[in-house]
Amino acid sequence: MFSLQDKHSFALPVYGSDVHLISEPEHLSDVQWTEDSVILGEGSNTIFTADFAGQLILNRLMGHQIEKEPTGYEVILAAGENWHYWVETLVRQGIAGLENLALIPGSVGATPVQNIGAYGVEVAKFIRSVRGVDLSSQQPFELLADECKFGYRDSIFKQPGYQSYFITDVTFFFPHDWKPCLDYPDLSGLPSDSSAEQIFEQVVEVRQRKLPDPKVLPNAGSFFKNPIVGRTTLRRLLQRHPDLRYFELDENLVKLAAAWLIDQTGLKSLRVGGAGVHQRQALVLVNAREASGQDVIDLALQVRKQVYQRFGVTLEPEVRLLNSQGSIVL
Ligand code: EPU
Repeated sequence: MFSLQDKHSFALPVYGSDVHLISEPEHLSDVQWTEDSVILGEGSNTIFTADFAGQLILNRLMGHQIEKEPTGYEVILAAGENWHYWVETLVRQGIAGLENLALIPGSVGATPVQNIGAYGVEVAKFIRSVRGVDLSSQQPFELLADECKFGYRDSIFKQPGYQSYFITDVTFFFPHDWKPCLDYPDLSGLPSDSSAEQIFEQVVEVRQRKLPDPKVLPNAGSFFKNPIVGRTTLRRLLQRHPDLRYFELDENLVKLAAAWLIDQTGLKSLRVGGAGVHQRQALVLVNAREASGQDVIDLALQVRKQVYQRFGVTLEPEVRLLNSQGSIVL
């Protein structure tokens, strides 16, 4: 039995029995894909709520390649590389683009799966292609950005039939004609001619102030997605809650601030066993003191139920939840 506590940032005390570490692409041909297999990077968006009985395949592929092209930089990063390390390294080298995505925990390979985003930028904007091996057939794949079906915290890699897609590396492109993205309220105080490095420093400062460090207070970032609703729902909500927080998406849709919905429901002090809602960011659930997997599930269900009762809006998990057999739906 292997402890999985240090294999996921929520750090629940659970065990796995069949763990494969992939540190070289050649190791992939030894993997026999089974229906109960799960591929994992640094585990910052996955919560093991129970001992895991299936096969766990840890992506630890390392390496990088940077090329200057006439219109920008092409950067290829192996999937097991640490995300924040590369955001900082590129920004400090004068390669701008990822500064808004600083300090997001996790590995490079997880970024297209989730289409990570923060402070008005999504990683999809800089992805050229994603390469890997479909472990169920041992066939290599390369998907161009258009084929990855990126959406809000979504991509083709989350769809059924793609769970066996092991990402080996991600190719990014950063155009030389970079412009800062300062639309998000937390960055709107910065001068419009800010450098990528200045934005990077500000994002790091904001995140350190607002979000709990998983190493100190175990968590998996935002537990729920910000719900996307239509104009009719928005009008209904605004009638009763004129100070509702939301972001415009297009002429039909808006994204509601789930943190605000949870906060307004008065759930910031909610605890179930050792799991709780974070005091400074209500969208983050934390493992406050030796939580069990069931504590986390019960807490999430309570939050969802109470927010629904107050606002009529259903929160969907943003994290991947696993039990002994594999992914579970709340
Ligand atoms: N708010 C509250 N109470 C709180 C926290 C926030 O009322 O406890 C309000 C804020 O005042 C603000 C709104 O809710 O008006 C939104 O909050 P915030 O700006 O902190 O961002 P978020 O929508 O809660 C999203 C992402 C984060 C990302 C931030 C910054 C999702 C699910 N989450 O959070 O991503 O860092 O924006 O861009 O989209 C993650 O995905 O794990 C993650 C942390």
